[in-house]
Amino acid sequence: MNFEFYLPVEIVFGVSSLERVGNIAKRFGYKALIVTGRKSSKENGSLYKVIESLKKNGAEEVLVFDHIEPNPTDKSVNLASEIVVREKVDFIVGLGGGSSLDSAKAVSIVSSNEGYAWDYVNYPEGPRLIPFLNRPVICIPTTAGTGSEVNRYSVLSNPIRKEKLVLSHSLNYPKVAIVDPSLTVSMDRRLTAITGIDALMHALESLTNRVENAFADELAMRAIELIKGWLPVALEEPENLTARTYMSYAAMLAGIAIDKKRVALIHGMEHPVSAHYPKVAHGEGLAALGVAITEFNYRGNPSKYSLFARLMGYEEKPHMAVRALEDFLDRVGLRVSLRDLGVEREKIERLTEDVYILSRSLFPINPVEPTMEDVYRLYERAYEGY
Ligand SMILES: [Fe+2]
Repeated sequence: MNFEFYLPVEIVFGVSSLERVGNIAKRFGYKALIVTGRKSSKENGSLYKVIESLKKNGAEEVLVFDHIEPNPTDKSVNLASEIVVREKVDFIVGLGGGSSLDSAKAVSIVSSNEGYAWDYVNYPEGPRLIPFLNRPVICIPTTAGTGSEVNRYSVLSNPIRKEKLVLSHSLNYPKVAIVDPSLTVSMDRRLTAITGIDALMHALESLTNRVENAFADELAMRAIELIKGWLPVALEEPENLTARTYMSYAAMLAGIAIDKKRVALIHGMEHPVSAHYPKVAHGEGLAALGVAITEFNYRGNPSKYSLFARLMGYEEKPHMAVRALEDFLDRVGLRVSLRDLGVEREKIERLTEDVYILSRSLFPINPVEPTMEDVYRLYERAYEGY
């Protein structure tokens, strides 16, 4: 057994842990920038709670950048970074879903080094610039899915280039993750489902890909078990804090698993979809692609797909992984095709090219190494649905 494990993130987990943000932030300085979305952190009151807690604990000034949208852009990161530099901000708080957390982390890198956000994203040839400094970031998720609060990734979109790429660097870890499951109670049914499926795909893809890390596999396995058991409960009983707690916990476990083992072809093929169709939510895109790609993949790693099937409550056979995923997507209301999501058939060729241009570094770690023809055919299947 071989594995490495490094996670420089302090995790503070539990209902009401949000209240501790001010006390935790004291060590990072006096001037904060909160990076968040336009609406939800105001509607659920978490934004005001964070500001109050910071001020009560000695923060002199708390600025708010509330322009983060789903599928966050390099432009927003550049704008927020300018504010950080101009206002001499000491530390950054990311508050919201994956978009806000990913942006907050990237703002830390861009505001502390030369260049712009797009200089730091990972093309297969590597990023244009390597960061050497960062600023402290506190991540506070209000959804249960991304796992961004505990890993080194920021997924950013460039609407002009129509590209979605990952900034991945050890300086991109947040300093602290405050995971307060009560913040996820205000998510509606659809958001609960699409973020929960994102977490499930993180666990499935990290568990089954070719990277070896037994320790991370344990995290992914536990995440699968928990999501299978508790996502349906969270959907039926949105106020159920036990279900919300286990979903926040599972998303965090899966977020660590992908930090160690990366993702695979489902994510690699989803990113071009939401890059070209920014209205498609990441989790929906994954849901549309997941079944076809699992059908393609399971022969490449029969033991892990059997394990996935068993954890989902099915017979321990590799091909049962496909059924397990299909049924679960159906159960959470996300049995969708790419066509349902508004993807145009004539775009499939461009999407296929983009997977090759932008995400081919995932090919060798996918359970079955795909060709361009495979990718094209898989888009076609996911377009048609079943
Ligand atoms: Fe994801």
